Amino acid sequence: MLKAAFYTLGCKVNYYETESLKGIFLQEGFDIVDFGVEADLFVINTCTVTHVADRKSRQTIRRAKKLNPEALVAVIGCYPQVNPEAIRALPQVDLFLGTQERLSLPGLVKRRLQGQDKYGGISSYDHEGAAFEEMPWLKEQGRARAFLKIQDGCDRFCSYCVVPLARGPLRSLPLEKGLDYLREIGRAGFKEVVLTGIHLGLYGMDSQDRESSLATFLEEAVKIEGIQRIRLSSIEPADFDEKLLEVISRGGKLCPHLHIPLQSGDNFILSRMKRSYNTSFYASLLRDLRGSIADLAISSDIMVGFPGEEEKHFLNSLQFVRECAFSSLHVFKYSPRPGTEAATYSSPVKPEVQEKRSREMIALGEELAQQFQEQHLGRTFPVLFENKIEYSDLSCSSFPRECLLKEEKITGNPLIWEGFTPNYLRVRALGKPDWRGKVKHICLKKRYPNYLEGSEPG
Ligand code: 5AD
Ligand code: SF4
Repeated sequence: MLKAAFYTLGCKVNYYETESLKGIFLQEGFDIVDFGVEADLFVINTCTVTHVADRKSRQTIRRAKKLNPEALVAVIGCYPQVNPEAIRALPQVDLFLGTQERLSLPGLVKRRLQGQDKYGGISSYDHEGAAFEEMPWLKEQGRARAFLKIQDGCDRFCSYCVVPLARGPLRSLPLEKGLDYLREIGRAGFKEVVLTGIHLGLYGMDSQDRESSLATFLEEAVKIEGIQRIRLSSIEPADFDEKLLEVISRGGKLCPHLHIPLQSGDNFILSRMKRSYNTSFYASLLRDLRGSIADLAISSDIMVGFPGEEEKHFLNSLQFVRECAFSSLHVFKYSPRPGTEAATYSSPVKPEVQEKRSREMIALGEELAQQFQEQHLGRTFPVLFENKIEYSDLSCSSFPRECLLKEEKITGNPLIWEGFTPNYLRVRALGKPDWRGKVKHICLKKRYPNYLEGSEPG
Protein backbone atom coordinates (compact mmCIF):
# COMPACT_ATOMS: atom_id res chain seq x y z
CA MET A 1 0.00 0.00 0.00
CA LEU A 2 1.37 3.42 -0.93
CA LYS A 3 1.87 5.86 1.92
CA ALA A 4 0.77 9.50 1.60
CA ALA A 5 1.66 12.34 3.98
CA PHE A 6 -0.02 15.75 3.99
CA TYR A 7 1.05 19.16 5.29
CA THR A 8 -1.06 22.32 5.56
CA LEU A 9 0.16 25.90 5.74
CA GLY A 10 -2.07 28.92 6.17
CA CYS A 11 -5.70 29.25 7.01
CA LYS A 12 -8.55 27.05 8.20
CA VAL A 13 -9.88 26.80 4.66
CA ASN A 14 -6.62 25.20 3.61
CA TYR A 15 -6.83 22.88 6.59
CA TYR A 16 -10.30 21.78 5.54
CA GLU A 17 -9.21 21.14 1.98
CA THR A 18 -6.25 19.02 3.05
CA GLU A 19 -8.49 16.92 5.30
CA SER A 20 -10.90 16.43 2.44
CA LEU A 21 -8.09 15.30 0.13
CA LYS A 22 -6.88 12.86 2.79
CA GLY A 23 -10.33 11.28 2.69
CA ILE A 24 -10.18 10.96 -1.08
CA PHE A 25 -6.70 9.40 -1.01
CA LEU A 26 -7.88 6.98 1.69
CA GLN A 27 -10.68 5.87 -0.60
CA GLU A 28 -8.16 5.49 -3.41
CA GLY A 29 -6.33 2.95 -1.29
CA PHE A 30 -3.49 5.07 0.11
CA ASP A 31 -2.32 4.70 3.67
CA ILE A 32 -2.23 8.15 5.35
CA VAL A 33 0.88 8.67 7.48
CA ASP A 34 2.25 11.55 9.54
CA PHE A 35 4.32 14.17 7.78
CA GLY A 36 7.76 13.45 9.17
CA VAL A 37 8.12 9.80 8.27
CA GLU A 38 9.07 8.30 4.94
CA ALA A 39 6.14 8.34 2.54
CA ASP A 40 5.67 7.60 -1.17
CA LEU A 41 3.68 10.75 -1.72
CA PHE A 42 3.91 14.13 0.02
CA VAL A 43 1.13 16.65 -0.55
CA ILE A 44 1.88 20.20 0.58
CA ASN A 45 -1.03 22.61 0.69
CA THR A 46 0.65 26.01 0.55
CA CYS A 47 -0.09 29.57 1.60
CA THR A 48 1.15 32.74 -0.11
CA VAL A 49 -0.43 35.50 1.94
CA THR A 50 3.03 36.94 2.80
CA HIS A 51 6.61 36.27 1.68
CA VAL A 52 7.06 34.45 4.99
CA ALA A 53 4.26 32.04 4.01
CA ASP A 54 6.02 31.49 0.66
CA ARG A 55 9.27 30.74 2.45
CA LYS A 56 7.65 28.29 4.85
CA SER A 57 5.97 26.57 1.91
CA ARG A 58 9.33 26.17 0.13
CA GLN A 59 10.99 24.90 3.32
CA THR A 60 8.28 22.28 3.70
CA ILE A 61 8.72 21.17 0.10
CA ARG A 62 12.46 20.70 0.66
CA ARG A 63 11.82 18.85 3.89
CA ALA A 64 9.50 16.41 2.13
CA LYS A 65 12.07 15.54 -0.51
CA LYS A 66 14.69 15.02 2.21
CA LEU A 67 12.41 12.64 4.07
CA ASN A 68 12.32 10.46 0.98
CA PRO A 69 14.22 11.53 -2.14
CA GLU A 70 12.32 8.86 -4.09
CA ALA A 71 8.89 10.18 -3.09
CA LEU A 72 6.52 12.09 -5.27
CA VAL A 73 6.10 15.68 -4.04
CA ALA A 74 2.81 17.35 -4.97
CA VAL A 75 2.38 21.05 -4.24
CA ILE A 76 -1.09 22.54 -4.24
CA GLY A 77 -2.98 25.65 -3.21
CA CYS A 78 -2.44 29.37 -3.15
CA TYR A 79 1.30 29.59 -3.86
CA PRO A 80 1.31 27.68 -7.18
CA GLN A 81 -1.96 29.39 -8.13
CA VAL A 82 -0.37 32.83 -7.82
CA ASN A 83 3.19 32.00 -8.82
CA PRO A 84 3.34 28.77 -10.85
CA GLU A 85 6.76 29.65 -12.25
CA ALA A 86 8.35 29.76 -8.79
CA ILE A 87 6.97 26.31 -8.02
CA ARG A 88 7.85 24.86 -11.40
CA ALA A 89 11.45 25.99 -10.86
CA LEU A 90 11.83 23.99 -7.63
CA PRO A 91 13.65 20.74 -8.42
CA GLN A 92 11.89 18.92 -5.55
CA VAL A 93 8.43 19.41 -7.06
CA ASP A 94 6.98 16.61 -9.18
CA LEU A 95 3.49 17.90 -9.63
CA PHE A 96 1.55 21.02 -8.81
CA LEU A 97 -2.00 22.30 -8.82
CA GLY A 98 -3.52 25.62 -7.79
CA THR A 99 -6.77 26.21 -5.97
CA GLN A 100 -8.94 24.74 -8.71
CA GLU A 101 -9.60 21.15 -9.72
CA ARG A 102 -8.03 19.78 -6.56
CA LEU A 103 -10.22 16.74 -6.85
CA SER A 104 -8.19 15.72 -9.90
CA LEU A 105 -5.11 15.25 -7.69
CA PRO A 106 -5.42 11.47 -7.14
CA GLY A 107 -5.67 10.89 -10.92
CA LEU A 108 -2.68 13.14 -11.58
CA VAL A 109 -0.65 11.36 -8.91
CA LYS A 110 -1.43 8.00 -10.47
CA ARG A 111 -0.41 9.19 -13.92
CA ARG A 112 2.76 10.70 -12.53
CA LEU A 113 3.57 7.44 -10.73
CA GLN A 114 3.32 5.83 -14.15
CA GLY A 115 6.13 8.09 -15.30
CA GLN A 116 4.53 11.17 -16.81
CA ASP A 117 6.27 14.54 -16.72
CA LYS A 118 6.08 17.27 -14.12
CA TYR A 119 2.52 18.52 -14.22
CA GLY A 120 1.37 22.00 -13.46
CA GLY A 121 -2.22 22.71 -14.33
CA ILE A 122 -2.87 26.30 -13.38
CA SER A 123 -5.36 28.58 -15.02
CA SER A 124 -5.87 32.01 -13.58
CA TYR A 125 -9.27 32.97 -12.26
CA ASP A 126 -11.94 34.63 -14.26
CA HIS A 127 -13.69 36.82 -11.73
CA GLU A 128 -16.90 36.58 -13.74
CA GLY A 129 -17.55 32.92 -13.25
CA ALA A 130 -16.04 30.00 -11.37
CA ALA A 131 -17.93 27.24 -9.64
CA PHE A 132 -17.62 26.27 -6.00
CA GLU A 133 -15.50 23.13 -5.93
CA GLU A 134 -17.34 20.97 -3.46
CA MET A 135 -14.78 19.08 -1.43
CA PRO A 136 -16.38 16.34 0.63
CA TRP A 137 -16.23 16.47 4.37
CA LEU A 138 -13.94 13.83 5.92
CA LYS A 139 -15.52 11.92 8.76
CA GLU A 140 -12.20 10.85 10.25
CA GLN A 141 -11.02 14.40 11.03
CA GLY A 142 -8.45 14.04 13.73
CA ARG A 143 -10.02 16.59 16.06
CA ALA A 144 -13.02 16.84 18.37
CA ARG A 145 -14.10 19.87 16.37
CA ALA A 146 -15.22 19.42 12.79
CA PHE A 147 -14.46 21.98 10.09
CA LEU A 148 -16.71 22.67 7.14
CA LYS A 149 -15.89 24.96 4.23
CA ILE A 150 -19.01 26.62 2.86
CA GLN A 151 -17.54 29.51 0.89
CA ASP A 152 -14.51 30.31 -1.25
CA GLY A 153 -13.01 33.34 -2.96
CA CYS A 154 -13.07 37.08 -2.49
CA ASP A 155 -13.93 40.05 -4.69
CA ARG A 156 -12.86 42.84 -2.36
CA PHE A 157 -9.34 43.53 -3.62
CA CYS A 158 -7.97 45.28 -0.53
CA SER A 159 -4.79 46.95 -1.73
CA TYR A 160 -2.37 44.59 0.09
CA CYS A 161 -4.11 41.30 -0.51
CA VAL A 162 -3.24 38.56 -2.95
CA VAL A 163 -6.14 36.36 -1.87
CA PRO A 164 -8.53 37.35 -4.70
CA LEU A 165 -5.81 36.22 -7.14
CA ALA A 166 -5.13 33.06 -5.14
CA ARG A 167 -8.73 32.11 -4.53
CA GLY A 168 -10.80 33.66 -7.30
CA PRO A 169 -14.28 35.11 -7.06
CA LEU A 170 -16.92 34.66 -4.37
CA ARG A 171 -18.71 31.34 -4.51
CA SER A 172 -20.68 29.31 -2.02
CA LEU A 173 -21.70 25.78 -1.27
CA PRO A 174 -25.47 25.58 -1.88
CA LEU A 175 -27.40 25.91 1.36
CA GLU A 176 -29.03 22.47 1.29
CA LYS A 177 -25.70 20.77 0.65
CA GLY A 178 -24.11 22.65 3.53
CA LEU A 179 -26.93 21.60 5.84
CA ASP A 180 -26.63 17.98 4.69
CA TYR A 181 -22.95 18.01 5.62
CA LEU A 182 -23.83 19.50 9.00
CA ARG A 183 -26.35 16.70 9.61
CA GLU A 184 -23.64 14.19 8.76
CA ILE A 185 -21.26 15.96 11.17
CA GLY A 186 -23.92 15.82 13.90
CA ARG A 187 -24.55 12.11 13.25
CA ALA A 188 -20.81 11.42 13.37
CA GLY A 189 -20.84 12.66 16.97
CA PHE A 190 -19.02 15.99 16.60
CA LYS A 191 -20.25 18.49 19.17
CA GLU A 192 -18.70 21.51 17.50
CA VAL A 193 -18.34 22.65 13.93
CA VAL A 194 -16.25 25.53 12.63
CA LEU A 195 -17.72 27.09 9.49
CA THR A 196 -14.96 28.35 7.26
CA GLY A 197 -14.67 30.44 4.14
CA ILE A 198 -12.33 32.99 2.60
CA HIS A 199 -14.99 35.69 2.83
CA LEU A 200 -17.52 33.87 4.99
CA GLY A 201 -19.66 36.94 5.74
CA LEU A 202 -20.67 37.08 2.06
CA TYR A 203 -21.76 33.43 2.00
CA GLY A 204 -24.64 32.98 -0.45
CA MET A 205 -24.26 36.37 -2.15
CA ASP A 206 -23.36 34.63 -5.42
CA SER A 207 -26.51 32.53 -5.30
CA GLN A 208 -29.58 33.07 -7.53
CA ASP A 209 -31.68 32.74 -4.39
CA ARG A 210 -32.01 36.25 -2.96
CA GLU A 211 -32.72 34.89 0.50
CA SER A 212 -29.43 33.00 0.64
CA SER A 213 -27.01 34.49 3.19
CA LEU A 214 -24.86 33.52 6.14
CA ALA A 215 -27.71 34.56 8.47
CA THR A 216 -30.20 32.22 6.78
CA PHE A 217 -27.63 29.43 6.75
CA LEU A 218 -27.06 29.86 10.50
CA GLU A 219 -30.78 29.97 11.25
CA GLU A 220 -31.11 26.52 9.72
CA ALA A 221 -27.80 25.22 11.03
CA VAL A 222 -28.71 25.75 14.68
CA LYS A 223 -31.68 23.39 14.28
CA ILE A 224 -29.45 20.43 13.47
CA GLU A 225 -29.35 17.75 16.12
CA GLY A 226 -26.14 16.63 17.75
CA ILE A 227 -24.15 19.77 17.04
CA GLN A 228 -23.98 21.85 20.20
CA ARG A 229 -21.69 24.61 19.04
CA ILE A 230 -21.21 26.48 15.81
CA ARG A 231 -18.15 28.66 15.45
CA LEU A 232 -17.48 31.12 12.63
CA SER A 233 -13.97 31.42 11.29
CA SER A 234 -13.63 35.10 10.29
CA ILE A 235 -16.10 37.84 9.39
CA GLU A 236 -15.22 41.15 7.76
CA PRO A 237 -16.44 44.23 9.69
CA ALA A 238 -18.57 45.44 6.78
CA ASP A 239 -20.45 42.15 6.52
CA PHE A 240 -22.46 42.41 9.73
CA ASP A 241 -25.82 43.47 8.42
CA GLU A 242 -28.84 43.77 10.71
CA LYS A 243 -30.04 40.22 10.09
CA LEU A 244 -26.63 38.66 10.79
CA LEU A 245 -26.26 40.73 13.96
CA GLU A 246 -29.69 39.62 15.07
CA VAL A 247 -29.06 35.91 14.39
CA ILE A 248 -25.66 35.97 16.09
CA SER A 249 -27.11 37.84 19.06
CA ARG A 250 -29.64 35.07 19.67
CA GLY A 251 -26.69 33.06 20.95
CA GLY A 252 -27.68 29.49 21.70
CA LYS A 253 -25.47 27.20 19.65
CA LEU A 254 -23.59 30.08 18.04
CA CYS A 255 -20.37 30.56 19.95
CA PRO A 256 -19.76 34.01 21.45
CA HIS A 257 -16.47 34.25 19.60
CA LEU A 258 -15.93 36.35 16.50
CA HIS A 259 -12.78 36.99 14.52
CA ILE A 260 -13.15 40.41 12.89
CA PRO A 261 -10.03 41.54 10.98
CA LEU A 262 -9.25 45.18 11.72
CA GLN A 263 -5.84 45.44 9.93
CA SER A 264 -5.09 48.93 11.26
CA GLY A 265 -6.45 51.28 13.88
CA ASP A 266 -5.63 54.37 11.85
CA ASN A 267 -8.06 55.85 9.32
CA PHE A 268 -5.42 57.09 6.89
CA ILE A 269 -3.86 53.62 6.71
CA LEU A 270 -7.27 51.92 6.47
CA SER A 271 -8.12 54.03 3.44
CA ARG A 272 -4.75 53.27 1.80
CA MET A 273 -5.47 49.62 2.46
CA LYS A 274 -8.80 50.11 0.62
CA ARG A 275 -10.72 48.83 3.60
CA SER A 276 -14.34 49.87 3.46
CA TYR A 277 -14.74 51.12 7.06
CA ASN A 278 -13.11 53.49 9.50
CA THR A 279 -12.32 53.13 13.17
CA SER A 280 -15.56 54.72 14.39
CA PHE A 281 -17.59 52.23 12.32
CA TYR A 282 -15.53 49.39 13.76
CA ALA A 283 -15.83 50.65 17.35
CA SER A 284 -19.58 51.02 17.01
CA LEU A 285 -19.84 47.46 15.60
CA LEU A 286 -17.99 46.13 18.65
CA ARG A 287 -20.29 48.10 20.96
CA ASP A 288 -23.38 46.66 19.27
CA LEU A 289 -22.02 43.12 19.42
CA ARG A 290 -20.87 43.36 23.02
CA GLY A 291 -24.14 45.00 24.02
CA SER A 292 -26.08 41.98 22.87
CA ILE A 293 -23.76 39.00 23.42
CA ALA A 294 -22.54 38.09 26.89
CA ASP A 295 -18.86 37.18 27.37
CA LEU A 296 -18.16 37.80 23.71
CA ALA A 297 -14.56 37.17 22.61
CA ILE A 298 -13.47 39.30 19.68
CA SER A 299 -10.14 38.49 18.07
CA SER A 300 -8.53 40.25 15.15
CA ASP A 301 -5.75 40.51 12.56
CA ILE A 302 -3.50 43.56 12.57
CA MET A 303 -0.89 44.52 10.04
CA VAL A 304 2.06 46.72 10.93
CA GLY A 305 4.50 48.55 8.67
CA PHE A 306 2.11 49.17 5.79
CA PRO A 307 3.64 51.60 3.22
CA GLY A 308 3.19 55.13 4.50
CA GLU A 309 2.63 54.06 8.12
CA GLU A 310 4.41 56.75 10.11
CA GLU A 311 4.98 56.62 13.85
CA LYS A 312 1.83 58.66 14.51
CA HIS A 313 -0.31 56.20 12.50
CA PHE A 314 1.20 53.28 14.34
CA LEU A 315 0.53 54.93 17.70
CA ASN A 316 -3.09 55.48 16.67
CA SER A 317 -3.27 51.82 15.77
CA LEU A 318 -1.86 50.74 19.12
CA GLN A 319 -4.28 53.00 20.97
CA PHE A 320 -7.29 51.80 19.00
CA VAL A 321 -6.37 48.13 19.40
CA ARG A 322 -6.16 48.71 23.15
CA GLU A 323 -9.62 50.27 23.17
CA CYS A 324 -11.00 47.30 21.23
CA ALA A 325 -9.96 44.98 24.09
CA PHE A 326 -9.41 42.01 21.79
CA SER A 327 -9.28 38.56 23.30
CA SER A 328 -6.40 37.69 20.99
CA LEU A 329 -4.49 39.25 18.14
CA HIS A 330 -2.70 37.92 15.05
CA VAL A 331 -0.01 40.38 14.06
CA PHE A 332 1.38 40.46 10.51
CA LYS A 333 4.26 42.51 9.17
CA TYR A 334 3.20 43.95 5.83
CA SER A 335 4.70 42.07 2.92
CA PRO A 336 4.38 43.40 -0.65
CA ARG A 337 2.62 40.86 -2.87
CA PRO A 338 3.26 41.08 -6.61
CA GLY A 339 0.08 41.84 -8.52
CA THR A 340 -1.51 43.84 -5.71
CA GLU A 341 -2.02 47.59 -5.70
CA ALA A 342 0.00 48.22 -2.53
CA ALA A 343 3.05 46.54 -4.08
CA THR A 344 3.33 49.67 -6.25
CA TYR A 345 3.07 52.10 -3.30
CA SER A 346 6.07 54.19 -2.36
CA SER A 347 7.24 54.99 1.18
CA PRO A 348 7.95 51.48 2.45
CA VAL A 349 8.56 51.07 6.17
CA LYS A 350 12.08 49.90 7.02
CA PRO A 351 12.33 46.25 8.10
CA GLU A 352 13.79 47.15 11.50
CA VAL A 353 10.89 49.55 12.14
CA GLN A 354 8.41 46.87 11.07
CA GLU A 355 10.09 44.46 13.44
CA LYS A 356 9.91 46.89 16.37
CA ARG A 357 6.25 47.70 15.69
CA SER A 358 5.43 44.05 15.35
CA ARG A 359 7.00 43.30 18.74
CA GLU A 360 5.06 46.16 20.37
CA MET A 361 1.79 45.08 18.81
CA ILE A 362 2.32 41.44 19.81
CA ALA A 363 3.07 42.53 23.40
CA LEU A 364 -0.15 44.55 23.46
CA GLY A 365 -2.06 41.54 22.10
CA GLU A 366 -0.66 39.42 24.92
CA GLU A 367 -1.62 42.00 27.52
CA LEU A 368 -5.19 42.15 26.20
CA ALA A 369 -5.41 38.35 26.06
CA GLN A 370 -4.33 38.20 29.68
CA GLN A 371 -6.99 40.75 30.68
CA PHE A 372 -9.62 38.75 28.85
CA GLN A 373 -8.56 35.56 30.62
CA GLU A 374 -8.64 37.29 34.00
CA GLN A 375 -12.23 38.43 33.52
CA HIS A 376 -13.22 34.76 33.57
CA LEU A 377 -11.49 33.62 36.74
CA GLY A 378 -13.80 32.23 39.41
CA ARG A 379 -16.58 31.53 36.90
CA THR A 380 -17.84 28.25 35.47
CA PHE A 381 -18.11 27.56 31.72
CA PRO A 382 -18.87 24.53 29.57
CA VAL A 383 -15.61 23.23 28.09
CA LEU A 384 -15.45 20.90 25.11
CA PHE A 385 -12.44 18.69 25.78
CA GLU A 386 -10.32 17.76 22.80
CA ASN A 387 -6.83 16.56 23.71
CA LYS A 388 -5.16 14.69 26.47
CA ILE A 389 -1.94 16.30 27.63
CA GLU A 390 0.64 13.65 28.32
CA TYR A 391 1.98 13.59 31.87
CA SER A 392 5.49 13.62 30.45
CA ASP A 393 4.76 16.72 28.34
CA LEU A 394 4.03 18.78 31.38
CA SER A 395 7.42 20.36 31.70
CA CYS A 396 5.70 23.74 31.85
CA SER A 397 3.16 22.17 34.14
CA SER A 398 0.98 24.41 36.12
CA PHE A 399 -0.62 21.53 37.86
CA PRO A 400 1.03 21.38 41.24
CA ARG A 401 3.00 18.20 41.66
CA GLU A 402 1.13 17.31 44.86
CA CYS A 403 -2.13 17.53 43.01
CA LEU A 404 -0.91 15.16 40.30
CA LEU A 405 0.56 12.78 42.86
CA LYS A 406 -2.70 12.74 44.79
CA GLU A 407 -4.59 12.01 41.58
CA GLU A 408 -2.08 9.30 40.72
CA LYS A 409 -2.78 7.63 44.08
CA ILE A 410 -6.53 7.71 43.47
CA THR A 411 -6.72 6.80 39.80
CA GLY A 412 -3.23 5.51 39.08
CA ASN A 413 -3.04 7.81 36.08
CA PRO A 414 -3.58 11.55 36.30
CA LEU A 415 -5.14 12.77 33.08
CA ILE A 416 -4.97 16.37 32.09
CA TRP A 417 -7.36 17.38 29.37
CA GLU A 418 -7.38 20.46 27.22
CA GLY A 419 -10.39 22.05 25.59
CA PHE A 420 -12.16 25.31 24.84
CA THR A 421 -14.98 27.36 26.28
CA PRO A 422 -17.60 28.69 23.82
CA ASN A 423 -15.68 31.97 23.76
CA TYR A 424 -12.49 30.16 22.89
CA LEU A 425 -10.56 30.25 26.13
CA ARG A 426 -8.15 27.35 26.27
CA VAL A 427 -8.72 25.39 29.48
CA ARG A 428 -6.87 22.53 31.16
CA ALA A 429 -8.37 20.35 33.87
CA LEU A 430 -7.82 17.00 35.51
CA GLY A 431 -10.29 14.64 33.89
CA LYS A 432 -11.40 11.09 33.25
CA PRO A 433 -10.25 8.77 30.46
CA ASP A 434 -13.46 9.24 28.49
CA TRP A 435 -13.45 13.04 28.30
CA ARG A 436 -12.47 13.38 24.64
CA GLY A 437 -15.29 15.11 22.78
CA LYS A 438 -17.29 15.69 25.97
CA VAL A 439 -18.56 18.98 27.34
CA LYS A 440 -17.95 19.45 31.09
CA HIS A 441 -18.68 22.41 33.32
CA ILE A 442 -15.41 23.75 34.62
CA CYS A 443 -14.72 26.44 37.16
CA LEU A 444 -11.73 28.52 35.98
CA LYS A 445 -9.24 29.03 38.78
CA LYS A 446 -5.83 30.08 37.62
CA ARG A 447 -4.33 31.83 34.63
CA TYR A 448 -1.27 30.76 32.65
CA PRO A 449 0.12 32.45 29.54
CA ASN A 450 -1.74 30.19 27.11
CA TYR A 451 -4.53 28.67 29.09
CA LEU A 452 -6.66 28.70 32.22
CA GLU A 453 -6.58 25.91 34.72
CA GLY A 454 -9.85 24.76 36.22
CA SER A 455 -11.79 21.91 37.72
CA GLU A 456 -15.29 20.54 37.95
CA PRO A 457 -17.15 22.49 40.60
CA GLY A 458 -17.92 20.79 43.91
N1 5AD B 1 1.18 41.41 4.21
C1 5AD B 1 1.02 41.10 5.52
N2 5AD B 1 -0.09 40.52 6.00
C2 5AD B 1 -1.09 40.28 5.14
N3 5AD B 1 -2.30 39.74 5.34
C3 5AD B 1 -2.94 39.68 4.16
N4 5AD B 1 -2.16 40.19 3.18
C4 5AD B 1 -1.00 40.56 3.77
C5 5AD B 1 0.19 41.17 3.31
N5 5AD B 1 0.36 41.51 2.04
C6 5AD B 1 -2.80 39.33 6.65
C7 5AD B 1 -4.09 40.09 6.98
C8 5AD B 1 -5.14 39.04 6.87
C9 5AD B 1 -4.38 37.80 7.27
C10 5AD B 1 -5.00 36.51 6.86
O1 5AD B 1 -3.15 37.97 6.62
O2 5AD B 1 -4.00 40.56 8.32
O3 5AD B 1 -6.26 39.28 7.68
FE1 SF4 C 1 -3.00 31.73 2.81
FE2 SF4 C 1 -4.97 33.26 2.11
FE3 SF4 C 1 -4.49 31.09 0.71
FE4 SF4 C 1 -5.51 30.91 3.18
S1 SF4 C 1 -6.46 31.82 1.36
S2 SF4 C 1 -3.85 29.74 2.37
S3 SF4 C 1 -4.46 32.65 4.19
S4 SF4 C 1 -3.19 32.90 0.90
